Amino acid sequence: MSKSEVYNNSESFNPKKYSKTFLSLSSDAEPLARELTRFRLQQLHEFYEQHGPQLTGCRILEYGGGPGHVYPLISAAPYASEIVFAEYAEQNRKVAEEWRSNKSEALDLTPLFQHVVSSLESNKDENAVEQRETSVRSLITQIVPCDINESDALRDVTLPFDVVSTHFCLVTAVASVEQYTLGLQKLARLLRPGGMIVMTESIGGTFYRVEGKKLHNLHLGSTEVVQQSLVQAGFTNVSMKTMKRPPSELNDIVEYAFVTAVLASA
Ligand SMILES: C[S@@+](CC[C@H](N)C(=O)[O-])C[C@H]1O[C@@H](n2cnc3c(N)ncnc32)[C@H](O)[C@@H]1O
Repeated sequence: MSKSEVYNNSESFNPKKYSKTFLSLSSDAEPLARELTRFRLQQLHEFYEQHGPQLTGCRILEYGGGPGHVYPLISAAPYASEIVFAEYAEQNRKVAEEWRSNKSEALDLTPLFQHVVSSLESNKDENAVEQRETSVRSLITQIVPCDINESDALRDVTLPFDVVSTHFCLVTAVASVEQYTLGLQKLARLLRPGGMIVMTESIGGTFYRVEGKKLHNLHLGSTEVVQQSLVQAGFTNVSMKTMKRPPSELNDIVEYAFVTAVLASA
């Protein structure tokens, strides 16, 4: 099955099962999923707490955002003027649209908003969580297709962005480290000079599973590979926070890296 078939087919990649498996803080979720979700939300919170004030009014591109996985945007929203949500698979864009339109069948991401707003930001205002959800919904002006393996990784969208946010996307979409570096170069073209890339990457893995079905994950041998690829793609000031985790039934990834970098001026 080609990659487009994998992500466009609910038999090989079921959007809601994927979310339930990997994006959860619930006590009945896999411990890996809970830990990974906490790690991502914590790192994103710290990043925007530190850099948000300089990014006020920024345009953000969420690239390969999956089935409405807006979790990277919860901490970003207070600083954003617009968010474009790009996703490769039509079935995932449909789930994203359900969430944006607040449909009854949409994914319930409220526990993630509660964790960020009430716990990490210590905002105890009783309307704050709902207000943040409304804010992210209204900041997302477009849900558009994207493909990192095309020469234009994103089409028909106004450029540049101030922030490109992409999490576990390139590793699922490309087959080699050379293509990974090329993918980063394509993302760099969507950013203004001085703009930032914000990523979560998986190190040492070759697969992940959704409902027992194995999906491809590019093997990045170490965090240095990510660092080198970013520098080759024109980025500077690379910063990483990592979390080690033993391989499990869900995947054979051994380390997760939250990575940020700045696009060097030409
Ligand atoms: C592991 S999911 C990550 C989703 C989300 N970013 C998250 O953190 O949960 C990988 C995503 O990459 C997308 N993808 C697959 N092939 C792609 C391609 N050629 N170009 C861009 N994205 C792609 C998939 O559709 C999927 O949404």
